[in-house]
This record gives sequence, structure tokens and C-alpha cells, in this order.
Amino acid sequence: MKKNLLYVASLTLVMVLVNFSSCKKTSSNYTPSCSGATKTYSADAAPVFQSACAGCHSGKYDNYSGVSADKSDIRSKVLDGSMPQNSTLTDAQKNAIICWIDAGALNN
Ligand code: HEC
Repeated sequence: MKKNLLYVASLTLVMVLVNFSSCKKTSSNYTPSCSGATKTYSADAAPVFQSACAGCHSGKYDNYSGVSADKSDIRSKVLDGSMPQNSTLTDAQKNAIICWIDAGALNN
């Protein structure tokens, strides 16, 4: 009986360790904080797209239809930090984009 318990305990420990190390690999994923006023395109998201994305994605992420067509791709690349290329967004800028998309990516 005691041996069994020890076995279960060590299995659990191994599982926790495996989980922990697999979590570490994706820990660059940002967790947005969307409390407060609902984010809008014109006041929140568009200024970030203009300043941080449109330089490389001109004609695409400098207008509503271009951004909304790619919203799920944009969302995942901002969350995992792969965009903007060669630079980083502040948490406030990430929230502006992610929370606006999560609120429906409206043209508001
Ligand atoms: C320094 C230039 C640069 C900046 C700034 C930049 N990107 Fe990109 N982006 C690229 C390049 C180059 C690619 C294509 C190659 C790749 O996928 O890595 C790309 C690809 C993408 C893609 C994949 C779809 C596609 O059009 O190929 C998305 C989505 C994207 N970028 C979103 C963004 C967002 C959102 C921002 C601003 C927060 C941003 N990018 C800022 C250079 C940039």
C-alpha cells in the first residue's frame, strides 16, 4: 500500500514537471487585461496599428477593412510577440489591439 502511494506520488511529480516545462515554452504568450472602458477602433486600436504596424504593412493595416480581414492572425501574432517584427509593444498597446478584437473588432 505504501509503495503504491509512493508510486502515485512520484508519477504525479513527473507529470507536474512535464507540465511545467511545456508551459515554459509558451510563456511568451501575453495575457491581455481588458477591464475598463471597451476598446474602440478609432481611439485605441487604430493608433497602434498606425504607429507600430503600418510602416511595414502599409496599404493593409492602415485601414479598417485590412485589419479586420486579418484579425485572428493579428491577434495570435501580437499575443505571441512575433509581431511587430524587430520591436515590441507595450502592454497598453497589446491590450488596445487584443481587447478591441475580442470586443468584436467593430468599426467604432
Ligand atoms: C519591421 C517590419 C514589420 C512591422 C513593424 C510589423 N510587421 Fe507584420 N510582418 C512583417 C513581415 C516581413 C511579414 C511577413 C513575413 C513573416 O510572416 O514573418 C509580416 C507578417 C505579418 C502577418 C502575417 C500575415 C501577412 O500579412 O503576411 C501579420 C498578421 C502581421 N505581420 C501583423 C503585424 C502587426 C499586427 C503589426 C503591428 C503590431 C506588425 N505586423 C508589424 C513585417 C513587419
